[in-house]
Amino acid sequence: MLDPLDRSASAEAKQEHYKQVAASIHALLEQETDWTAALATVACELHHAFAYYHWTGFYRVVRPQHLKIGPYQGTHGCLDIPFQRGVCGTAARSRQTQLVPDVEQFPGHIACSSTTRSEIVVPVLNPKGRLLAVLDVDSNDLAAFDAADQVALESICAYLGERFADQIVL
Ligand code: SME
Repeated sequence: MLDPLDRSASAEAKQEHYKQVAASIHALLEQETDWTAALATVACELHHAFAYYHWTGFYRVVRPQHLKIGPYQGTHGCLDIPFQRGVCGTAARSRQTQLVPDVEQFPGHIACSSTTRSEIVVPVLNPKGRLLAVLDVDSNDLAAFDAADQVALESICAYLGERFADQIVL
């Protein structure tokens, strides 16, 4: 496992770190066909690779317009999130990444942890554009995530969407 990267790292170091995390995820999941095992592995690899990640995990589409927690790493989160609520619901509804530098400025943000200051939520879409899940990463730091985090996390989510394209979706 990689040493956790902190926010003082250069842009180059961060890009290289994400490259290594992605390589490790691809190697670990090469033979894996189980969706839950894959999501758990991605949450674990990401969470421990970045010092500024405080909560890292997935909300899966389990019925129409509804997200259910897990797998994840960190303190407990809300178990159920309807598409009309919060940052996760907005990402699910719009199918667009939500990069939120200050959660207090996001109307309807769901405060699962009072320490969360910023977050990024990335949809996991299969190649046909069906939503399988969203990846939610929260930080205790304000504006912890930037375009480099977004590009790297979107690439990991695209990989999951391709590998698990036939996951049952509603
Ligand atoms: N912050 C999220 C809720 C999920 S938790 O923070 C783990 C939101 O508003 O969607």
